[in-house]
Amino acid sequence: MLINFDAGPATLPRSVMQQASEAILDYNGSGLSILEIAHRGKAFTAILEEANGLVKKLLGLDDDYAVLWLQGGGRLQFSMLPMNFLGTDETAGYIESGHWAEEALHNARLYGYTEVLGSSKTDQYTYIPDWGDIPEQLQYVHLTSNNTIYGTQFFRFPQTTVPLVADMSSELFSRRLDYSRFSLIYAVAQKNIGPAGVTLVVVRKSMLERQKRELPGILSYKDEAANNSVLNTPPVFAIYCSLLTLRWIDSIGIDAIEQRNREKANLLYQAVDDSQLFYGVAQKEHRSLMNVCFRTHDDNHTQTFLNFARERNITGIKGHRSVGGFRASLYNAISVENVQQLIAAMQAFEQQQ
Ligand SMILES: Cc1ncc(COP(=O)(O)O)c(C=O)c1O
Repeated sequence: MLINFDAGPATLPRSVMQQASEAILDYNGSGLSILEIAHRGKAFTAILEEANGLVKKLLGLDDDYAVLWLQGGGRLQFSMLPMNFLGTDETAGYIESGHWAEEALHNARLYGYTEVLGSSKTDQYTYIPDWGDIPEQLQYVHLTSNNTIYGTQFFRFPQTTVPLVADMSSELFSRRLDYSRFSLIYAVAQKNIGPAGVTLVVVRKSMLERQKRELPGILSYKDEAANNSVLNTPPVFAIYCSLLTLRWIDSIGIDAIEQRNREKANLLYQAVDDSQLFYGVAQKEHRSLMNVCFRTHDDNHTQTFLNFARERNITGIKGHRSVGGFRASLYNAISVENVQQLIAAMQAFEQQQ
C-alpha cells in the first residue's frame, strides 16, 4: 500500500475502509448492500442518529445545535451561508487567510455587502492576518480555520458577539476547541471524515430563524434541519463511512487524536527546520498541524524528490500549484510511523545531494 499524504480526497483509517467494503456486500447481515438501503428506512435513520450524536459528543456541543449532512461540497457552503444569513442591504465580515477564504468572500458578494476584516493575500497567505475590532452590525464573521493550500491555522479566534462561522474542512475532529463559540461550522468530508460527496454542517438552532430570503428547501439550512438531512436522497454511503470514522475517532478520543497530530506535525516541522535542503513555507507561529507545506531552495529538486518519495511508497506530497514545493497532509488517519517514513525519505534524499 502507498502512504497517501494527499490534501483530499485523503486517506481514511484502514479499519473504516475495511468495514465500508464489507457493508457494500452486506450491510449488518441485512442481506442488502449499504448502497441499496432506503434513506428513510430504519437502518439509515439509526446511522444518522448515531452520527449526529457522535458529532455533537466529539465537538462538545449540546442540543442547541443541529447536525446536517449536505451535498455540493465546500463551494456550495460558500454560497449557502450568505444566501441564508446575509440580506441584500446587510454586511458580513470575512477574514481572508487563503484561497478558500477568498472564494467564500467572493460568493458572499453576490448576496450582500462584505467587509474584509483582515487579509494576508499580499504576503501569499503565509500567515493568519489580524482582524482588529469586529463591528457589531455584521451579520456574521467567516473564517477558514485551517488553510489547506498554504499550511496555516488559526490558534485563536475573534472575541465577538457577532455569530462566528468557520470553514473547518481540513481540520474538523483534529483537536479540542471550544466549538460552542461558533454559530456555524462546516467541513467537507473528504479530508478528515469520509469520502467526497457529503459536507458536514453544525449550526446553532437559533441561527436557523435568521434566514433572510425565500429559498428552495435544498438551499435552506432551516428546511434541511427540519427534514433531518433527508429532504432529498442523501449520499447514504458517504454518511455511513463518516459514521465509521466518527466511531474510530471516538474510540481513540479527541485528546489523544490531538496529541498524536501535534506529535506528527512537530516531527515533520523539526525535520524541515533541521534540513539544509528543505524549508518551511508558512510563518512559524501560524503553522498548520494538518497541512505541512515546505519547499527546496533549488526548484530543480522538486520533481526529483517527488520521484524519490514515490519509489518509497510515498504519494500525495506535491504542493498546490499556487504554492509549489511539497505539502504533507497529516490528517487523523496518518500515523506517526507514516510521518517517520516521510522524514526518512527526506533525509536520505538530502544525503544524496
Ligand atoms: C478549507 C477548504 N474549504 C473548501 C474546500 C472546497 O471543497 P469542495 O471541493 O468540496 O468544494 C476545500 C478543498 O480543498 C478546502 O480545503
